[in-house]
Amino acid sequence: MANTAQRLRVADGQGEKAPAPKRTVPCMQTAWPHMLFPRPAASVPLAFPFEQPGLRYRYFARNAVWDAIRLLDLKGKRVLMPSYFHGVELETLLAAGVTPVFFRVDEQMKCDWDDAREKAQDIACVYVIHYAGFPQDMGAARQLANELGVPVLEDCALALLSRDGEKPLGSFGDVSVFCLYKTLPVPNGGALLVKGDLARKVAELPLVQQPPFPSTASHLIGSMLSNLELRTGEVGRRTRRAIRDAGRWVVNRANVERVSTGTQHFNLDDVNLGMSALSHLVLRNQDFAGIVEKRRRNYFLLYAMLRDVAPPVTGELAPGVCPLFYPVAVDDKASAMARLLSRGVETVDFWRVRHPAVPMGLFPEVDRLRARVLELPVHQDLSPADAEHVASCVRELLK
Ligand SMILES: Cc1ncc(COP(=O)(O)O)c(C=O)c1O
Repeated sequence: MANTAQRLRVADGQGEKAPAPKRTVPCMQTAWPHMLFPRPAASVPLAFPFEQPGLRYRYFARNAVWDAIRLLDLKGKRVLMPSYFHGVELETLLAAGVTPVFFRVDEQMKCDWDDAREKAQDIACVYVIHYAGFPQDMGAARQLANELGVPVLEDCALALLSRDGEKPLGSFGDVSVFCLYKTLPVPNGGALLVKGDLARKVAELPLVQQPPFPSTASHLIGSMLSNLELRTGEVGRRTRRAIRDAGRWVVNRANVERVSTGTQHFNLDDVNLGMSALSHLVLRNQDFAGIVEKRRRNYFLLYAMLRDVAPPVTGELAPGVCPLFYPVAVDDKASAMARLLSRGVETVDFWRVRHPAVPMGLFPEVDRLRARVLELPVHQDLSPADAEHVASCVRELLK
C-alpha cells in the first residue's frame, strides 16, 4: 500500500517547470478538522469489526499479525501463504520463526485453492489476503483449513469495512487482522480480532504501549494539510509546503522519533505499540456507511469511464465490497504515475517490490501484477468531479 517514498507528489517539485495542476487528487483519504471533535470514549462506532468485544487495537496491522502468530502458536511451523503479498506481513512471519509455503494467485488477484491444496503438507495455518477490498473465496479457504485441521488467519489489511454480500471480511477467519489507516484518515492503527476459545488467550499477550505523541501528531498534521490542499488547491498547496518544510526543520532539531506507517519492513522495536489516542478520537468521528458508499460510487464512476480501455484487474465490484482503490494495469508504471501526477492525480505503485523469498518466475501472474498494477484513488474524499477527473486523465494517458 501507500509507501510515502513511492508516492510521487506535485508538492515535492516533480516536473518543476510544468504549471501546477488546478486540481489535486490525493491518493489517500485525509483528516478533516471536524474529526477531532471530542466524543466520549464509550461512543464505539457501530460497524464491524469495531463493535466486536475484545478487539485489540495496535499501531500497525503487522503488530496484529505478530500477535496472531503467538496466539496460534505458529513459531517453527509452516503456513500456507499466497504468493502475492505486501512484504511486511511476510517479514513479520519470518521474524516470528514461521516458514511460509507459497501458493499461486491468478491474474485477477484470486487465490488458487487447488494449488494451495497441492502444497499443503505439514501446514499449521492457512493465511488469506483480500486484495484491494475484494473478497477471496472464503468457503474454499475454510474447506481446505478444515481438511487440514488448521486455523485460518484472515488478513484484512486492505479490506476494512468490506463484505462478501452480507458477511463482513474479517468474520471468516479464526483470527483476523485489519489495518485502519489504509481506509480511514487515522494517523495510525491496526486491529486483531480473535474468535472462539482462542479469544481467552488474548489477555496473555503483552500490554500495548502508547506510541510517541509527536510522531502521531506529525502524521495527523500531514493528513490535515493534505486535506487543506484538496479543498483549496493552490493556496493549500503553498501552505502545506511551507508548513511541511517548517515541520521538517522542527522535527530534525527536536530529534522527534517518527514511527512511519506504510513501510515495507518489520521492526521488532515497534511490535508492542498500540493505537494512539488521536486515532481513537478520529475513529469515533467516522461515518462508516458513508465511506463505503462513496468509495463504491467513485469506483463505479471510474469503471464507467474506463472499462473499455482500462478495466480493473479484479473484475466485478460485487455487493458489499468496499474497494480500497481501482487496480488498473499499465505497461510503464513510472511514466504513467508521472504523467498522472502532472495532472494532479496521485497514484500508488502497488506492490512493485518483490520480496526475495519468492524468486522471479515462480509465480508469473504475480510478477506481472507487481510490474503492472497501479492504484487509482477512489477514497471517500473524492467528489464525483474528482473521480471523473481521474478517469479522464487515465483515458488520455492510454490513448
Ligand atoms: C496484506 C497486508 N497485510 C499486512 C500489512 C501490514 O500493514 P501495516 O502497514 O498496518 O503493518 C500490509 C501492509 O500494506 C498488507 O498489505
